Amino acid sequence: MSCDTKEMAALGALEIIKGLDLRDGELVGIGTGSTVRAFLDVAHELLKGKRLMSSSNSTALELSGRGFDVIYYPSTSYVRLYVDGADEVVPATGDMIKGGGGALLGEKILAFASALNIFIVSEDKVVERLGSRSPVPIEVLPEALPFIMESLKAMGLKASPRTSAGKMGPVISDWRGVIVDVFTGPIGDPRRLNESLKSIPGVIETGLFVGLADYVVVGRRSCTYDVYRLRRVVKAPYL
Ligand code: A5P
Repeated sequence: MSCDTKEMAALGALEIIKGLDLRDGELVGIGTGSTVRAFLDVAHELLKGKRLMSSSNSTALELSGRGFDVIYYPSTSYVRLYVDGADEVVPATGDMIKGGGGALLGEKILAFASALNIFIVSEDKVVERLGSRSPVPIEVLPEALPFIMESLKAMGLKASPRTSAGKMGPVISDWRGVIVDVFTGPIGDPRRLNESLKSIPGVIETGLFVGLADYVVVGRRSCTYDVYRLRRVVKAPYL
């Protein structure tokens, strides 16, 4: 028998959350993507009565379609819990690449603001080194795009502004930045790369999520999930 890996990861998150004594009215941040949708399927009852803050336009639509009121865009520094997916993850460290859906800025703000972060992934997202399969997306100020492309080249990094069918020119995010994919190959030191990328003026945020995970849950085809409890490094400002 083989199970839906996203559903398995979602069930793992649900078990963790059931142990949290989440109260009505508490603020829960909701990430973006298909694994988050699997989470919303299994957590619908549990999320009733909570205040839900969306990380993206896509999730705001998803939540309102499911009958939830949505708080759109992070507008407070306190979030009790945040649940999101990832594009690549190293479970032992909890380091991740995110932003495959272009929502990295809203996602990182919520992950930073939240007291507890749970990331849920299917087993195919697990890598030994970040950058093995996915590029690192970054969000940049549109006006600085030519300068940033030159700067990345000077740093020896291959990069291209993301494009999409249905629009000429680069993809513009929900936050009105341009998404640029940086093709790094396997990354030796994700923290350092994050700092280097953010040191370029005009880079608003990167899709490298380093030290932000409290839990990573990996859903497996074998109808199980593995829970990794991590020591979070980047804490919410009020903690
Ligand atoms: C959105 O920008 C991303 O960070 C998503 O969290 C990530 O792409 C995971 O998406 P899936 O759950 O659809 O794979």
